[in-house]
Amino acid sequence: MRDSVIVNEVGPRDGLQSLGSVLSVADRIALIRALNDAGLRHIEAGSFVSPKAVPQMAGTDELFQQLPLTESVNYSALVPNLRGYENAKAAGAQAVNVVLSVTDTMNQKNIRMSLAETTAACAEIVKAAKADGIHAHAYLAVAFTCPFEGKVPERVVLALVEKMLKAGADKLIIADTIGAANPAEVRSLIAKVTALTSANKVSCHFHDTRGMGLANTLAALDGDIREFDSAIGGMGGCPFSPGASGNVATEDVVLMLDSMGLKTGIAPLDLVAAIDTASKLVNKQLGGRSYNWLTQQIAKQTGGEHVA
Ligand code: COA
Ligand code: ZN
Repeated sequence: MRDSVIVNEVGPRDGLQSLGSVLSVADRIALIRALNDAGLRHIEAGSFVSPKAVPQMAGTDELFQQLPLTESVNYSALVPNLRGYENAKAAGAQAVNVVLSVTDTMNQKNIRMSLAETTAACAEIVKAAKADGIHAHAYLAVAFTCPFEGKVPERVVLALVEKMLKAGADKLIIADTIGAANPAEVRSLIAKVTALTSANKVSCHFHDTRGMGLANTLAALDGDIREFDSAIGGMGGCPFSPGASGNVATEDVVLMLDSMGLKTGIAPLDLVAAIDTASKLVNKQLGGRSYNWLTQQIAKQTGGEHVA
């Protein structure tokens, strides 16, 4: 079994994009700094989208100029269209994430393009990125259930996976955008995706809407996946997907992997300070299922109460 796992923090993008309030670029940088300090080395820092569509992501170009350049941190940016890609490139992004929702309605609601148009646009961006020496990752969003069209047949996802591979995507991210998948579905789809390409080119993105985020993570892990998206404190959700709630919490994923003897390079207790920073910034107490236990361990170590 491969014993190293990449945990890709998406809090600064997926976490903030559906927030009721809008954080300043300085506050978004403070969050990213706290994530750096906690040992996270893969961070989706923001998205180059229309500020009218997602005001929480306005100023991502400015944010990219101010990213803490801790050694070996890999930042990526979500891009919805070619314009977003050009902006990300101009801002110096080293990796871009295109979003191919696997149903027509989801693409219409999210970026006002049909499935065919989005597929062509994503392929074009992936090709451009490869030519520009930029890593290109492809999200397959609503890969299990679409909030508008319901359950998605596996063959639909697999056909789009093949198209993104053909375009040259470095990585495919199978995303349960609304947190509706169960471990049996994850096991089945992952087995089929990894029959098309090497498991180390595949990552998973789970939301914890129905409490199955960790179970789905384990199912994918058993299917040889060694890269996962998660958000600090379990924040997150897509503003264009009704019913979507928080991403699976980074602390829960890291603690589970660490307990199983898998290496993430992140000490679970170090995440508590980042959760507390995120809570202060978004003005709401965040925390995954393991948060209370983690704070108790810190209190034991320091001989006192944990003060957030
Ligand atoms: N970044 C910034 N601005 C952009 C842009 C981008 N990538 N793409 C288009 N725009 C601007 C246009 O210039 C135009 O500006 P204007 O109104 O000042 O003239 C405006 O956005 C609308 O452009 P249009 O081409 O008519 O697109 P639209 O209104 O159909 O919106 C998107 C399409 C893709 C720009 C918009 O829906 C979007 O940004 N969606 C993001 C969805 C998202 O982030 N979802 C969550 C993550 S998956
Ligand atoms: Zn998500």
